[in-house]
Amino acid sequence: MSRRRQLYEGKAKVLYEGPEPGTLVQYFKDDATAFNNEKKGTITGKGVLNNRISEFIMIQLGEIGIATHFIRRLNMREQLVKQVEIIPVEVVIRNVVAGSMAKRLGMKEGTPLPRSVVEFYYKDDDLGDPMITEEHITTFGWAALQEVDDMITMSLRINDFLCGLFMGVGIRLVDFKLEYGRHYQGDEVRTILADEISPDSCRLWDSATNEKLDKDRFRRDMGGVEEAYQEVARRLGVWPEEDRSDAPAA
Ligand code: TMP
Repeated sequence: MSRRRQLYEGKAKVLYEGPEPGTLVQYFKDDATAFNNEKKGTITGKGVLNNRISEFIMIQLGEIGIATHFIRRLNMREQLVKQVEIIPVEVVIRNVVAGSMAKRLGMKEGTPLPRSVVEFYYKDDDLGDPMITEEHITTFGWAALQEVDDMITMSLRINDFLCGLFMGVGIRLVDFKLEYGRHYQGDEVRTILADEISPDSCRLWDSATNEKLDKDRFRRDMGGVEEAYQEVARRLGVWPEEDRSDAPAA
């Protein structure tokens, strides 16, 4: 790992040059941040679990025809992905009022939305990822209109699929964040799903009890953070009980 060229280090992941041109290795860390880096911590085993959970979800999305950057999982903390040019827009899809929507609009967390809401945020840490509109995206050239359309269409399909997937394991998909990239192949460029889908980037509530099974437990100092991530992995059937070779030391 040390001989590989590191291309980028984010808050929860590191990207290394991949073994073949056009590929990257995505390494999942245990580091967690919240509120744009104001709060920092470690969630033991998170990287291993998010690697598995994201793999599981990306494979299923691929099977329903959503183009993703995922190629294959390499080991406990790494996956091989297609190299993309990240579109600097975070797409948030909400099914239930929570988090910043509850705060901004003074609404009660847990209020179901009559229809799913798609929001955009400009990926810029210095600005604290401000909320933006479609018009900002095209006006400032962060993405083309066609790419915005692709992101909306794909996000709503992903939402439909994931709502069902999680419902099947007793979890309500409250909201989640997606990132997309431009995948260049010869003269063609395609919008594909990038980054990860995990309890870091989703709000997941137990369907029966509303217990939070996601990063809000870390953001809000609720305790039981590791256990929540483990519970999601277990319910999805991706709990890595056998091969703990790359697991962090206790
Ligand atoms: P929010 O309510 O704080 O705007 O978050 C909406 C969803 O997006 C929630 O599932 C958490 C996820 N999210 C991220 O993945 N990264 C971020 O930086 C933020 C702010 C939210």
